[in-house]
Amino acid sequence: MKQKILVVNGPNLNLLGIRQPGIYGHSTLSDIISGLASLFPDIEIEHFQSNHEGLIIDRLHAVGYDPDYIGIVLNAGAYTHTSLAIADAIAAISRPVVEVHLSNVFAREEIRHRSLIAPVCRGSISGFGAKSYELAVRALL
Ligand code: DQA
Repeated sequence: MKQKILVVNGPNLNLLGIRQPGIYGHSTLSDIISGLASLFPDIEIEHFQSNHEGLIIDRLHAVGYDPDYIGIVLNAGAYTHTSLAIADAIAAISRPVVEVHLSNVFAREEIRHRSLIAPVCRGSISGFGAKSYELAVRALL
């Protein structure tokens, strides 16, 4: 059985491709996920997107202790900057989580400079567009 990586995308990321393309690029979420699947054929890339904080937490709990998962790539969207509950979930689980952002959050509004999840993630990748996800998968591998 292939080892797995779960890619989790939070609020508004379902709109990638049409959402502020000057900031987030023209790739859709399915472009990004299918790109990962073809770049990493030996890994099962599983994907979950939700606009709901609790559903993201439920999914982290569901895979967070499962040794079949190498780890989790998480773009928590705006929850990055607000969600102590997602930070607590990441701290609770044993699988490593890599934080990703398409945009360079540090080059944007000050409120985006603070990440509540960064201290409990293995590392953070920000600013490389769709490539941020590829770099995060490579980091986990
Ligand atoms: C984002 C950056 C966040 O500040 C923002 O709220 C998002 C997307 C990114 O991928 O650049 O929704 O996580």
